[in-house]
Amino acid sequence: MAQYTRVSGFVGLITLQNPPVNALSAAVRQGIVDMVERALSDQNVKSVVICGQNGNFCGGADIKEFGTNMSGPPLVPMIDAIEAANKPVVAAIEGIALGGGLELALGCHYRIAHSKARLGLPEVTLGLLPAAGGTQRLPRLIGVPAALNLITTGRHVTAAQALQLGIVDQVTDHNAVDVAVKFSLSVAGQSLDARRISTYPCPLPPDFDALFEGVMQKVRQSARGAIAPVACVQAVRAAATLPYTKGMEREQELMATLFTSGQTRAQQYCFFAQRAVGRWRMPSGACWETSKPRPVHKAAVIGLGTMGRGITVALAQTGLSVVAVETQEKQLMEAKQAVSGMLERGAKRHGVAPRLDRISYSQNIQAVADVNLVIEAVFEDMALKTDVFHQLSAVCKPGTLLCTNTSALDVDKLASEMPNPELVVGMHFFAPAHVMKLLEVVYGPRSSPQAVATAMQLGKKMGKVSVAVGNCRGFVGNRMLMPYLQQAFFLLEEGATPELVDQALEEFGFPMGVFRMSDLSGLDVGWRIRKREELVEPDMASGQSARIRQGSRYSPLGDLLCEQGRFGQKTGQGWYQYDKPGSRVARSDPWLHSFLVEYRARHGLVPRSIDHQEVLERCLYALINEGFRILEDGIAAGPEDIDVIYVFGYGWPRHRGGPMFYASMVGLAKVLERLEHYQQVHPDVPYLQPCSLLRRLVASGSPPIQRWGEVIKKRQSQL
Ligand code: COA
Ligand code: ADP
Repeated sequence: MAQYTRVSGFVGLITLQNPPVNALSAAVRQGIVDMVERALSDQNVKSVVICGQNGNFCGGADIKEFGTNMSGPPLVPMIDAIEAANKPVVAAIEGIALGGGLELALGCHYRIAHSKARLGLPEVTLGLLPAAGGTQRLPRLIGVPAALNLITTGRHVTAAQALQLGIVDQVTDHNAVDVAVKFSLSVAGQSLDARRISTYPCPLPPDFDALFEGVMQKVRQSARGAIAPVACVQAVRAAATLPYTKGMEREQELMATLFTSGQTRAQQYCFFAQRAVGRWRMPSGACWETSKPRPVHKAAVIGLGTMGRGITVALAQTGLSVVAVETQEKQLMEAKQAVSGMLERGAKRHGVAPRLDRISYSQNIQAVADVNLVIEAVFEDMALKTDVFHQLSAVCKPGTLLCTNTSALDVDKLASEMPNPELVVGMHFFAPAHVMKLLEVVYGPRSSPQAVATAMQLGKKMGKVSVAVGNCRGFVGNRMLMPYLQQAFFLLEEGATPELVDQALEEFGFPMGVFRMSDLSGLDVGWRIRKREELVEPDMASGQSARIRQGSRYSPLGDLLCEQGRFGQKTGQGWYQYDKPGSRVARSDPWLHSFLVEYRARHGLVPRSIDHQEVLERCLYALINEGFRILEDGIAAGPEDIDVIYVFGYGWPRHRGGPMFYASMVGLAKVLERLEHYQQVHPDVPYLQPCSLLRRLVASGSPPIQRWGEVIKKRQSQL
């Protein structure tokens, strides 16, 4: 799948053809090999141009081929042959040149990019390294520090940045193929000796060892157990210290380890899962294919607290007109300033003009009369939200979509109070809403598929990874967090410290353990919810232990800290202590340790030694077990939805694929066996009771995650 034509009399034009991104499948590689041979042997051809069909140069290796029996010509000799050609070969880069696509371009003698093109080596995000010479050619071309940056982060650069770095030779606003054809003729017949990157010496920075040490340290710290970024550094080091052919051998060696690792499987799974959640489906059968979103030109945000401000910024950045309403004058003034600041900083980072003029502010809800969609972000209070929704129903034009930003309230109950419940959906953003990638779009039984489609499309426009989920307590993400948090509290009661629990979770790959995270987000948030659920007051009249609430084991530890005013970072004390309120560096707190000792003694709890393995099993398997319940209840359409939510919203390490993928890697039988074990030890904890879907999956021989749907459907059809 590469087309060959002769253009301008003397130029062999090779066009990659594999929609949508011209990935380098076996057929495409074969096509390139054949067409390059043809162009080089054609006496009439003086130069060659390689381009991609439909305005995309090439999206790199075909990820769908990984893990299969790969056939067809390998990339490395194919690119080497292009570089060795005795006629100039020019890459005409439009759209994207990513991964193997950029490596192919680096094998060409010249690179010409359209100004809108994006280039990069994103393999690290798939748990791999650029193993078609990318780690050896790029540092030779642009120097070690810049190459390390691109290869270890996988970030894309614009054509202008690529020109500045020296990755491309020319950027054009015109048709890049036409420009490349003309250019290739202008250099035909010239010596190519100075154009073969593999022959370049790798420029060595003066502080070579310090540079590599620094980068390696940084990478290890941020990678948290991911092996690919480390291998990327090692491969670039080989480029800097070894001759090209030896460096290539090292690149291949490192790739061989990565290619068969569980981490790359997890990251490839994440890649496809992220795309699969866009193809959402509701239990009614309504789905992305059959539901057309309504156009949204103008949107409103009601309530400009932390969430409302972030949402306003994210909406304005899409280019939409936004009406921002806040009833408190002081809040409104502060919000205006904060929103403008966020927009200006964001625009500066992207080198564009801030979209301040897209937003109009008002203290009056009447200002939203002509919008297509409203996102309400007032206090988490059902009565207040209901009141605001009644006002909106009266003010807005018919058909306006009403979205509530909530992390905990019943979206369907809110909808049921409205004259048009089909127009109501939840949009659960994560703080800070203009930064965090995840959006849970929550539908109730009354929400129309069109409302869901509109919210999903808006989320996409806002740059979010949007996942459609059903309505239940905590939706998907927070519902699974409950058993996880609960186990962490119980572990403290049984003898662990916050430090031990956090260390185990951070070594697993979370950016923050559960207690550090709880200090960051504020202990009072959960306390308020537990108060609302009447969990905080022990039922002394029943004569039961203070650690039993509503019939199950309960740990009041979080409540006790809140009673002391220890809300976490914002008060300078929580599970850890901080230098002052608002400071970020968590330090062990001797007070907390004595408090735990005293608490255990008061409740007759004998502390025991707890290891990391138990922390992981108790916290993660309880969370995963709830994930199976969510699948069984039809709240998430499939395991991919849950995994995407956890990777993009809850810091689950991407190289472990998300909780449900992780369970499949550990082995469902093992997860079940450990849950059964812990349930026997802790019979008063319902969350540890293995979910019947997990049992059925194990009984069905633990099928691969892609086939769990069959077992789920079978069960649902029996109901
Ligand atoms: N191999 C196989 N399929 C690929 C692919 C690749 N390298 N890159 C993209 N695709 C597929 C996607 O799976 C998707 O398929 P679907 O429509 O069946 O879901 C389709 O191409 C479109 O991709 P999508 O990501 O939805 O489009 P986009 O316009 O938002 O983004 C890219 C395009 C190329 C930027 C993005 O797909 C990407 O980053 N691809 C991976 C590039 C990469 O890592 N290459 C190195 C591989 S080692
Ligand atoms: P967050 O949860 O986003 O951190 P808050 O819950 O503190 O923030 O913010 C909610 C905001 O909503 C407050 O600024 C409050 O003044 C505002 N608000 C409350 N009721 C209304 C209302 N009826 N109309 C508009 N804004 C409101």
